[in-house]
Amino acid sequence: MGSYNVVILKDISKLDVTYIPGKILCREKEIGLLKLYMKSGRAIISGGVGTGKTLLAKHYGGDAYINCYMNRTEHRVVEDIVKQLKPNFHTAGMTTQALWNEIEESKVIILDEIDGMIPDELRHFAYTLSRMKEKGKEINYIAITRSANILRQIIGDDAIWSTFADKAIVWLHNYEWEEIMKILDYRAGEALRKDAYNEDILSMIADIAINSPGHMRTAIDVLRNAALIAENEGSDEIKAEHVRMANEEGWLSDVESLEGSEAIVLLATAIACREKSYASLEEIKEVVKAKEEEHGIKIKNFDELIERLIKEDFVYKGKKGYTILNYPCNEIIKRLEK
Ligand SMILES: Nc1ncnc2c1ncn2[C@@H]1O[C@H](COP(=O)(O)OP(=O)(O)OP(=O)(O)O)[C@@H](O)[C@H]1O
Ligand SMILES: [Mg+2]
Repeated sequence: MGSYNVVILKDISKLDVTYIPGKILCREKEIGLLKLYMKSGRAIISGGVGTGKTLLAKHYGGDAYINCYMNRTEHRVVEDIVKQLKPNFHTAGMTTQALWNEIEESKVIILDEIDGMIPDELRHFAYTLSRMKEKGKEINYIAITRSANILRQIIGDDAIWSTFADKAIVWLHNYEWEEIMKILDYRAGEALRKDAYNEDILSMIADIAINSPGHMRTAIDVLRNAALIAENEGSDEIKAEHVRMANEEGWLSDVESLEGSEAIVLLATAIACREKSYASLEEIKEVVKAKEEEHGIKIKNFDELIERLIKEDFVYKGKKGYTILNYPCNEIIKRLEK
């Protein structure tokens, strides 16, 4: 893509997974707690996928950052820490204990996805950390886990757990819809040109994210992909259909298995939403009426059918109206109008 292509994206790198935004919104209390706990040199961040755990830790800052899924043994983790703290140091052939001794007390280490370590290794790792503390050497760390309760079970020993984590857990709840909107607005503002998207577009993405196990991670992914799709199409703004394409799921074959009247209501919803993010129930009914005339049929149980489509995840009922989130309306129309 040439540099002339600046219609939608101001700076795509601002939506990169590795990018650390200048501000973390909606986490003031948690940031405060993290700072408080780190005064005693240790904290655990616990929260579901995409709740901002990695972001929070990196924002606080560390001298070494380790992803424990990539380094699953105590030796590998400690070796990686030393390599990051002392880039010119030769770690080859050193024992794990010797490596531990190279870690200075003043440094902060971020241990991301710590439960990704092999359980025995993790247990011993936590044991070593807590034993060092008893001996008076305190290594500062932020450990990140999707579940502090599972981490506690893996570590098993109450005494070790207590020195490792107790009274230092920062819990990150899943964001509410309004919080996702606020964060999306900020992140879109950094990465995209202001008139390349609108509130309804962000609202659709928030609807997707709140129902997705990937949470805020999904929100940023969908935003980035929708922007790329729109730009690739030569559009000067992100349209609802671009969001649907970015969130496309492979269920379209299901569409053909719908029975006649249910298919017509879905078709009507797709037609009503084709050019926009949301449609009202009245707008959908309007299209249904036109289809009834066109095909010479009568749909008596519209309310029941739309409810069924919502339950089956074909149609989504959000705060702003009815929409389709996981497939482009144009594709549905193409399939169903046959
Ligand atoms: N409060 C926030 N303000 C701005 N951006 C946020 C906020 N929370 C999350 N994000 C963004 O959402 C995405 C997911 O956040 P992050 O990677 O930190 O989640 P995570 O909890 O580490 O997820 P996982 O469990 O999958 O590792 C990132 O792009 C991050 O920058
Ligand atoms: Mg993470």
